[in-house]
Amino acid sequence: MDKLIIEGGHALKGEVAISGAKNAALPILFSALLTDGVCTYHNIPRLRDIFSTIELLEKLGARCTFEGHTVTIDAGGMCCHEAPYDLVRKMRASVLVLGPLLARLRRARVSLPGGCAIGARPINLHLRGLERMGAKIELEHGYVEASVEKLRGKAIYFDVVTVTGTENLMMAATLAEGTTILRNAAREPEIVALAEALRGMGARISGDGSEEITIEGVDRLKAVETTIIPDRIEAGTFVAAVALTGGSVTITNCDTRHLKAVLHKVRLTGTQLDVTPDQVRVQSDGQIASVDIKTQPYPGFPTDMQAQFMALMAVGRGLSMISETIFENRFIHVSELKRMGADITVSGDTALVKGVAHLSSAPVMASDLRASASLVMAGLVAQGSTVVNRVYHLDRGYEAMEEKFKRLGAAISREKA
Ligand code: EPU
Repeated sequence: MDKLIIEGGHALKGEVAISGAKNAALPILFSALLTDGVCTYHNIPRLRDIFSTIELLEKLGARCTFEGHTVTIDAGGMCCHEAPYDLVRKMRASVLVLGPLLARLRRARVSLPGGCAIGARPINLHLRGLERMGAKIELEHGYVEASVEKLRGKAIYFDVVTVTGTENLMMAATLAEGTTILRNAAREPEIVALAEALRGMGARISGDGSEEITIEGVDRLKAVETTIIPDRIEAGTFVAAVALTGGSVTITNCDTRHLKAVLHKVRLTGTQLDVTPDQVRVQSDGQIASVDIKTQPYPGFPTDMQAQFMALMAVGRGLSMISETIFENRFIHVSELKRMGADITVSGDTALVKGVAHLSSAPVMASDLRASASLVMAGLVAQGSTVVNRVYHLDRGYEAMEEKFKRLGAAISREKA
């Protein structure tokens, strides 16, 4: 497995452009299954999770091309309704085929995703919602077997705010008979991006971005050509990294409306931020004031930025309380950061981070995507040479991360397995 080797202590300088959002691209690519027209998507990041998605779409009978950052999908010949274990195991978001398959083919056989490093991550709310819309669902031999005569619109209340759950049901409802109302729906920008793409296909959706989304079913959807929104988590990661290492970097191609919670907290650390609608200029002397955070569904502070913020707080002046309210096991990076000299105590869903004067390099192990990003950040500021093992997690969700850091002046290289 590839490793990253990072010599810490270089301030970052220059300009970096943000890629398309992984978590917007994934549901939008799956939504192409809802039509027999040829869909075209621009600004798709070249990531492992995107390649896995295309592999799954092709397995289902869709024809896909991926050139540069543009993907086309022709699901006219979709013939198969099964998402096999080997693909779902690689990428949990494969569960997003359920809604489109049921809507278009009226049946789906999808391997039940297991837990992952950050939590148990059940999909009970996806399944309950589809059942309420008339689907018959059975769990057999590790697979969700779902079938339906015709999906019917219903009012569905989510007990817990779920991003992919909202996306799955929103996609299923586009071709259902009647009106579906999703209550306590997720409000993430990725939900709005999916709704926009679906509207471009002729879907009738309103209320996305609020906690109540209404979808009036239509008989058919048509092809769409659309562009994926910028990745707010990648942007936030670069903002936090520059705050940590010190330096002056302009982060371009972002949508700063989506970054408010993160920028607010980074500003409180004493970092200077100049924000325009699509850019953030970050200037830092590396002196970080400690700040508390609590992860929340959007528009709160994103769980996908918690690990990176913890790396920043590891060298803060003072104490920071970090509460993780979304996933029950998303502190796996703590033990690795401690191996680099961080002073962190975890109690339940809260980590108390006492800032230290400096981190020191160590060999560390990446355990999930965002944890990997936090270890890379820690390596950028640690004294000595840090080796981050198992970087395939990083390749799942950050496009050319080490290249981007290198261009900003970081001493970072990849050792191929
Ligand atoms: N939950 C349930 N039942 C369900 C669904 C969710 O109890 O049926 C719980 C989960 O266990 C969790 C909470 O609800 O405690 C929120 O989970 P959610 O369903 O919102 O997470 P997700 O849709 O599986 C997406 C992102 C994650 C991101 C979370 C939270 C995608 C493909 N994934 O996951 O992204 O952390 O929302 O914002 O959109 C990442 O990119 O690194 C990543 C993990």
